[in-house]
Amino acid sequence: MGQPPFIIIAIDGGAASGKSSSSKILADRFNLLHVDTGSFYRHITYELLRRKVPPTDHAAIIAALAELKFETRLNGRSAQMLIGGQPAGDEIRGQNVNDHVSHYAAVPEVRTALLAYQRGQTAVARQHGFRGLVMEGRDIGSVIFPDAEFRFFLHADPTERARRRENEGRIDSVAERDRIDSSRKTSPLCCPPGAIDIDSTFLNLDQVVEKMAALIAAKIQ
Ligand code: CDP
Repeated sequence: MGQPPFIIIAIDGGAASGKSSSSKILADRFNLLHVDTGSFYRHITYELLRRKVPPTDHAAIIAALAELKFETRLNGRSAQMLIGGQPAGDEIRGQNVNDHVSHYAAVPEVRTALLAYQRGQTAVARQHGFRGLVMEGRDIGSVIFPDAEFRFFLHADPTERARRRENEGRIDSVAERDRIDSSRKTSPLCCPPGAIDIDSTFLNLDQVVEKMAALIAAKIQ
């Protein structure tokens, strides 16, 4: 028998919809590289804010992006982005980045700069002997990997999602980020046709994961 086929699982959804927790569990269960693309947008946002490049100044963004070198190292099963050799700090989960990330993520040049890097995570996964990858974000099933073996879209009521963030002790503009992410012209947050839509408002994490895992296991084992 040869190698089992490489599998790609895309998980999209709004802020605090449960993407990270569920994708980490799936990564463990099926030996996949976990790729949190939100952390990439957050890291770039932090770097552009540090350089005082506003999201409205596209020329300055293009010039800054040309200077940034993206690399990947493993942090457990997760892909960690390095910019100029440096990993992101805890600041990328702080309020300043929360308040600005959607504005930078709406800039087409920022998305273009990340496109090849995100697709290139398949090579990282293969190189480290993973069976595939699970990538979470907003446009994974629609733009980055529209042919992924599995494309999930997580829904949850916005009030419930804001409550989840509060329980984590984090101040987050969940509804405002969703509004900007869903209405931008380039790669808006949406459930692409054919993706499996899961409403997690009344499901706990285990129930969401079991739904996904059952579908994956049925197809790959
Ligand atoms: O963890 P949470 O769901 O709150 O957000 P995140 O996944 O860390 O993403 C932070 C922000 O990055 C989002 O609000 C989007 O503006 C942007 N993003 C995006 O535009 N496309 C992606 N594939 C992932 C994130």
